[in-house]
Amino acid sequence: MPKRRLIPHRRWDSCLPLQPKNWVKIMKIAMIGTGYVGLVTGACLAKIGHEIICVDHDDTKVVALRGGTIPIYEPGLDNVVAEAIGKGQLSFTADLAQAVESVDVVFIAVGTPQASDGRSDLSQIETAAKQIAKSANGDKLVVVKSTVPVGTCRRVGRILGKHGGSHSFRVASNPEFLREGNAVSDFMQPDRIVYGSNTAEAEAVMDEIYAQFEADNVPMVKTTLETSELIKYSANAFLAAKVAFINEMANLCDATGANVEDLSLGIGLDERIGKAFLKPGPGYGGSCFPKDTLALTILAQEADSPSRIIESVVDSNSNHIRRLGRKIADFCADSWGEERANPLIDKRIAVLGLAFKANTDDIRSAASTVIAPLLIKQGASVIGFDPEATQAAEAVIDHIETTTDIDTALTGADAVVVLTEWDVIKAIEWAEKRPLLNAPVVIDLRNLYAPERMAELEYHYLSLGRPNPA
Ligand SMILES: NC(=O)c1ccc[n+]([C@@H]2O[C@H](COP(=O)([O-])OP(=O)(O)OC[C@H]3O[C@@H](n4cnc5c(N)ncnc54)[C@H](O)[C@@H]3O)[C@@H](O)[C@H]2O)c1
Repeated sequence: MPKRRLIPHRRWDSCLPLQPKNWVKIMKIAMIGTGYVGLVTGACLAKIGHEIICVDHDDTKVVALRGGTIPIYEPGLDNVVAEAIGKGQLSFTADLAQAVESVDVVFIAVGTPQASDGRSDLSQIETAAKQIAKSANGDKLVVVKSTVPVGTCRRVGRILGKHGGSHSFRVASNPEFLREGNAVSDFMQPDRIVYGSNTAEAEAVMDEIYAQFEADNVPMVKTTLETSELIKYSANAFLAAKVAFINEMANLCDATGANVEDLSLGIGLDERIGKAFLKPGPGYGGSCFPKDTLALTILAQEADSPSRIIESVVDSNSNHIRRLGRKIADFCADSWGEERANPLIDKRIAVLGLAFKANTDDIRSAASTVIAPLLIKQGASVIGFDPEATQAAEAVIDHIETTTDIDTALTGADAVVVLTEWDVIKAIEWAEKRPLLNAPVVIDLRNLYAPERMAELEYHYLSLGRPNPA
């Protein structure tokens, strides 16, 4: 097992809450999958002193990372990676077998995308488990960091046992709660760390990996494999429910003349409710909430314990975005003074923000991937602006034109649809932009601008759940 070694007292940077320790047990860890989660987890574990080998079967990713290029946009990650490489604590390889041979602990952080039937597609997990088993040269702890349905860790244990020859394997579940765009500080300053295991030995190794966090009083939830797996799904489902709830309240505000911002404040100040996730928007998207809520409903049905609440959240979110599609077209028609039938034909619409949220280049299940095709289908030409996600968007949205320059997007636009809360979009001064536009129509699905100001500038302005001034 890993040897204990002293790390000299050193200054820690500001995003690390941990008090400097003059001790830490260095663990040698292989991280299988170097995507959003694997790369952040690997780099941050290296930053706290462990020795990490990140593995990815995508050679281009490995080559880029070895050359110091970060293949994803994640603020602050480049510095963490560069520092850890510089200290010799982080390396990258496409050779899984060699990485597994050189460590005692292997994390699995591969993708678990949504399968066509709504379940989590666990094929990447199963492949990784087989590869680990076949490469093992001794006993290993395998830690499942990917988000997986209840029972998956035990399944991983069976795969390891079947393909791992005489070696013995322990399995732990260690779900990740980082948010893209804030991933480094989320990892370094976690609300809690959760891990589940079925042996005292596995838990003891997890304790060593996260010892510094525990010493600094980060709440640790140490539980069973099943509970740990379900905590991750429950957390995402609960947050998704908050988003769906406030979007429904915004619609109700629109229908009744109430104001959703005051409503959010009025309920969010109740500590039992909390202020987070009470901002209306175009519905939850991203690589986690949509797939995890759906997977949880199926898991619950199969366990003969259906969750009507989460099923409603899933429905509510998909109805919300479809309804917004209709609302955009109707609002444009009314603003342009045209019939509501087919108003978008030959119109130019600027979509501001293609990533599913600010500070990421991730467009998986982003609102743009639903709204832009809807507009295009109705005859509009769509130009999308995003500082980081244009390439990704072009790969999945047919017929979209993209730009990283806001003025290019706005020039000649008949309407503007705001989908992502990037700072650069928040900061738009609409008085200056008016001459670029063909028509002063702004549909703001993030509530970024003051309705009073937009009225003063004589924009036709639609936001969510906030009455326009009379
Ligand atoms: N992205 C997030 O914000 C987030 C947050 C918490 C949890 N999660 C969960 O973490 C997991 C990973 O998500 P992600 O967004 O990092 O995915 P990702 O698609 O960005 O990364 C997965 C990586 O694994 C690599 N990979 C797959 N199989 C491999 C194998 N056998 N050997 C080597 N490399 C392999 C892929 O090439 C890819 O680079 C998912 O289960 C996800 O639900 C994601």
